[in-house]
Formats: sequence, structure tokens, C-alpha cells
Amino acid sequence: MRIMLMGAPGAGKGTQAKFITEKFSIPQVSTGDILRAAVTTGTEIGLTVKNMIESGGLVSDNTIINLVQERISREDCKNGFLFDGFPRTVPQAKAMIKVGIELDAIVEIAVEDKEIIQRIAGRRVHETSGRVYHTIYNPPKVEGKDDVTGENLVQRKDDTEKTIRYRLSVYYSQTKPLVDFYHRLSVAHGKPKYSQILGVGSVEIIASKMLQALS
Ligand code: AP5
Repeated sequence: MRIMLMGAPGAGKGTQAKFITEKFSIPQVSTGDILRAAVTTGTEIGLTVKNMIESGGLVSDNTIINLVQERISREDCKNGFLFDGFPRTVPQAKAMIKVGIELDAIVEIAVEDKEIIQRIAGRRVHETSGRVYHTIYNPPKVEGKDDVTGENLVQRKDDTEKTIRYRLSVYYSQTKPLVDFYHRLSVAHGKPKYSQILGVGSVEIIASKMLQALS
């Protein structure tokens, strides 16, 4: 299974990803997580992309395409993968098709901007694992600590209200055109199967709608 989770920043892609990876035994390939890990470890790519990520703009297509191609060439992706946050532009989607990577299914999680801004304000993350919490909607067992390791949770640098508003504008101008792109592809080639679900309500209910869309 080659699946893509699509949705605005804060729509809940990372939160929902684990339900898909468990159900289909495929790894999550999150370009955001890969980039943040590169920033944290101080690699050359990390140093190049740091400012762009923190300001909420998109990293160059070439950088992303190379990172993803390297990631999905690994053994754990041989039976499929879940793309989270990729492709994010039409050139990224076209680059995958060019190297013969076709998606089977896409689930778009739709959430209104107002709700997204509230979610982002309360988001806390465990940097090493990428586990995501929310101070009100999905709090950790102990305030400020990761449930599994007990390590400190942090707030992402791009999770300010100003930056999230900019990230939303980038999403509408650069990523939303993928909806049309994949619809046309689906009509012409019979896949990917495109589903949109409403991403509001409990995490479990959304997960069940999402798995239903993938069944
Ligand atoms: P990335 O890490 O991909 O960020 P994003 O797409 O902006 O998505 P988020 O991680 O912000 O949100 P999410 O949808 O995963 O929501 P979450 O589950 O955390 O990208 C970051 C940056 O990297 C980009 O800005 C760009 O610079 C760069 N980048 C990455 N990929 C790129 C690419 N392909 N091309 C170019 N540049 C790229 O949930 C959010 C919050 O809501 C959490 O607190 C959660 O607990 C809470 N929540 C979740 N579900 C619910 C619910 N049902 N009800 C209430 N609260 C909920």
C-alpha cells in the first residue's frame, strides 16, 4: 500500500498516521520529521533548511525529492509506505510519477482554519520520536512530559500564530492544487483513490472514518 495523508498544517496528519501504519504495517514517511531531525542533528541539509522551516515556507522541491527517494529506497518501504506531508507541490507529485512511484490511495483530512489555529497553539511534541500531544485535546499523562520516555515536550518554532497563518496561505496556494492534480490522475488511470474526511471530533472517530475510506 502506498498511501498519502493530505491536509493543512495542524489538520491531524501526524496524529492519524499511527493508525494507518499499524493497520497496514507500513512505515510513516514524514518529510517534516525528516527535516526536523536533520536540523536537530546539524547536518548540512539541516543547516540549509532551518530558517525556511521556522518561517513556514516550503523547502525546495529538489531537496525534498532527493530525501524522499533515499528514504523509500530502504528495505522497510518495500511493501509500501505512508506519505505524511509529501508531496506538497505539483512538481513533487510529478517527480514521483516520473520515477515510477504511484500512490494507491489519498485521504485528505479537512479542518477549518479557525480550529487549526487553536490546535497549533496547544501542540507539544516529543522531538526524538515525533509523538504529538495537545495541552487540552490530547494531553500527556504528566504535564510537559512524553508518555513513553518521560522526556520533556517542546513547542515547535513554527507553531506561532503568525507562522501558522502564513503556513496556511502556503498550503492553499501550493498544496491544494494537488487535489485537482490527483483527481485528474485518478480519472485517467483509475488511481489513486481519493477520499476526503472531516477531521473534527475525537481522534478515534476520525481514525475509524479514515480506515473506512481506505478499506
Ligand atoms: P510538517 O511537519 O509536514 O508540518 P505540517 O504539514 O505543517 O503539519 P503539522 O505537523 O503542523 O500538522 P499535522 O497535520 O501533522 O497535525 P498534528 O497531528 O500534529 O512540515 C513542517 C515544515 O517542513 C513545512 O512548513 C516546510 O517548511 C517543511 N516541509 C515539510 N515537508 C515538505 C515538503 N514536502 N515540501 C517542502 N517543504 C516541506 O495535530 C496538530 C495538533 O492538533 C496536535 O497538537 C494534536 O494533538 C491536535 N489534534 C490532532 N487531532 C485532533 C483532533 N481530532 N481534535 C483536537 N485536536 C487534535
